[in-house]
Amino acid sequence: MLPHQPVPGHAWRLLAILVLAWLFTATPVAAQAAAPNATSVGEAVCLRCHAAEDRHFGHTTHARAFRHNPRSERERQVCEACHGPGSAHAANPTERGTIIGFTRAWGTPVQTQNAQCMDCHQGRQRLYWPGSAHASNQLACSDCHNTMARLSASGLLRNAGISETCYGCHAQQRAEFRKRSHMPLPEGKLSCESCHNPHGSPTRPLLKTNSINELCTSCHAEKRGPFLWEHAPVRESCLNCHESHGSNQAQLLVAPRPFLCQQCHTNRTHQNRLLSAANQPGGPDPSERLMARSCQTCHMQVHGSNHPAGGRFLR
Ligand code: HEC
Ligand code: HEC
Ligand code: HEC
Ligand code: HEC
Ligand code: HEC
Ligand code: HEC
Ligand code: HEC
Ligand code: HEC
Ligand code: HEC
Ligand code: HEC
Repeated sequence: MLPHQPVPGHAWRLLAILVLAWLFTATPVAAQAAAPNATSVGEAVCLRCHAAEDRHFGHTTHARAFRHNPRSERERQVCEACHGPGSAHAANPTERGTIIGFTRAWGTPVQTQNAQCMDCHQGRQRLYWPGSAHASNQLACSDCHNTMARLSASGLLRNAGISETCYGCHAQQRAEFRKRSHMPLPEGKLSCESCHNPHGSPTRPLLKTNSINELCTSCHAEKRGPFLWEHAPVRESCLNCHESHGSNQAQLLVAPRPFLCQQCHTNRTHQNRLLSAANQPGGPDPSERLMARSCQTCHMQVHGSNHPAGGRFLR
């Protein structure tokens, strides 16, 4: 007997599961994916009823590519290259299951929608789309892209810019970029896409590079090292001391100085020498050497030093 051959009791359960699975998946798919027997009718037929949509669509990358420079039979179909064959829909336009729609209200399953786009856009930037945070949360390509109009300078996005598109769902990040110190994204010097690949990445959370430090030093090359004298937490991760989006401390720091440094270095360091606990801000004998730049009044090279005598990052 095969190890997993079902006994009759199992067989009934299996049948029940199959029926349930069919009820949950098969019915909506059959009703909502493009009609199986539909055939292509050509864009002239679509335009008879959808001239208004075409006015904006005409300015898009797809309209230009498909109409003037089609590379395949599918691209030549223009509207139906994305929406699928439309004969059944043209005959009965209000029946929802007859054509693939990309608006949430139309009800075509997200998987069916995305598969249409991925037929042409598989791989490259989207190599890690399957299983990514966005794909597994049921995002559709059209949650970020509107291919029916040219609303953004590039990328056929839903909104005029990348950040605006992302803020639609990521309100917390909008707040972070409003903090006193922030990466110059609101100023237009970079975008979410400078650091993230919204289509997926092997590095959490959707980072473009293999590590945090590789990301930060791709722009801040002078912090990459190698240094003669390395500061261990810098080597490990810039995020030991910096926020990635914004902070109410200067220079995107996670905590004010000297507390930042004291998270790892206790006061014992300078006791009976240069500074003591009494010299801390708020202590009985506050030292001006711990105000403002604080520990960095002396330890200037916190990211690492190349000076032969820079072991304490004093120069
Ligand atoms: C006879 C007129 C007619 C023709 C021809 C026609 N459509 Fe439509 N289409 C409509 C109407 C009316 C609706 C709106 C139906 C509704 O809201 O219930 C619609 C809805 C749609 C939708 C769904 C929009 C949404 O809400 O997401 C898509 C997509 C679409 N049409 C594409 C096409 C394409 C592609 C063609 C050519 C293959 C085409 N239509 C041909 C009349 C037509
Ligand atoms: C590159 C793929 C693509 C092509 C080509 C395309 N569409 Fe669309 N269509 C979409 C997407 C994506 C949406 C959803 C837009 C949104 O979010 O509002 C859409 C939406 C629509 C709608 C619903 C109304 C709207 O604007 O949201 C209609 C109707 C429609 N398309 C008809 C057409 C017709 C007619 C053509 C050919 C002239 C065409 N589409 C070509 C992808 C495409
Ligand atoms: C039949 C093939 C095909 C389908 C289906 C298709 N595209 Fe495209 N797409 C293209 C071509 C061709 C270009 C032009 C650029 C290029 O050569 O890659 C393009 C370009 C784009 C661009 C870049 C536009 C720009 O101006 O920078 C985006 C974004 C895009 N497609 C999204 C989508 C989305 C979203 C869908 C599904 C709703 C979709 N595409 C469906 C073929 C296709
Ligand atoms: C979470 C938002 C988001 C989702 C979801 C999304 N994209 Fe994008 N996509 C972007 C952004 C942002 C850009 C960059 C636009 C720019 O450079 O102006 C982009 C660029 C593109 C481009 C042009 C550049 C390139 O990578 O070749 C294509 C094509 C594209 N997306 C296709 C898709 C397809 C297909 C899907 C669905 C499987 C999808 N996108 C889902 C945000 C998204
Ligand atoms: C339609 C809503 C929507 C839009 C638009 C959107 N996201 Fe997301 N994003 C989500 C959801 C849902 C998650 C997963 C749940 C969570 O972590 O909040 C997510 C997660 C993320 C994560 C964390 C991934 C992880 O592994 O933890 C990043 C980074 C991200 N999104 C970046 C972006 C960027 C960049 C854009 C714009 C190009 C964008 N998102 C647009 C819905 C959206
Ligand atoms: C300078 C690079 C950079 C830019 C620009 C950037 N991010 Fe991030 N983002 C990061 C890093 C690094 C992390 C990881 C933070 C961590 O692990 O603590 C992150 C984390 C996230 C997360 C996961 C939740 C969290 O806070 O840990 C989301 C969601 C996100 N970013 C969305 C966005 C959006 C939306 C934008 C644009 C408005 C954006 N990011 C711009 C670098 C960046
Ligand atoms: C795409 C390029 C880019 C990436 C990636 C990047 N930065 Fe920046 N960063 C900038 C620019 C541009 C500025 C503004 C510099 C200026 O105005 O002189 C800046 C400024 C800063 C500042 C100073 C902020 C202030 O208040 O003066 C800090 C700290 C910083 N980045 C840390 C990081 C960290 C940590 C990472 C990795 C999570 C990172 N950066 C990734 C481009 C980048
Ligand atoms: C041990 C804590 C610590 C770590 C880890 C750290 N930094 Fe800093 N960083 C600081 C402090 C403190 C300042 C403020 C410096 C000042 O005021 O002179 C700063 C300032 C900066 C600045 C803005 C001023 C300047 O010097 O250009 C940038 C950019 C920066 N850090 C990038 C990085 C990058 C990239 C990494 C990761 C490779 C990193 N930092 C890791 C503590 C740290
Ligand atoms: C996340 C923990 C962490 C933070 C935050 C941190 N350091 Fe360090 N620091 C270390 C570690 C680990 C070493 C190396 C261990 C050692 O040699 O004692 C080190 C080494 C040093 C040294 C050299 C010590 C020696 O014995 O050679 C100095 C000086 C120093 N740090 C100063 C600072 C200053 C100033 C700050 C604040 C701007 C700071 N550190 C923030 C973890 C940290
Ligand atoms: C007035 C200048 C000055 C200030 C301010 C200062 N340090 Fe130092 N620090 C030094 C000098 C000089 C040494 C080297 C002493 C030696 O080599 O024996 C040193 C040594 C260190 C060491 C190495 C371990 C040791 O005991 O030799 C650490 C860690 C350190 N300081 C952390 C800090 C932290 C954290 C702060 C802020 C709370 C701080 N320092 C503020 C001058 C200063």
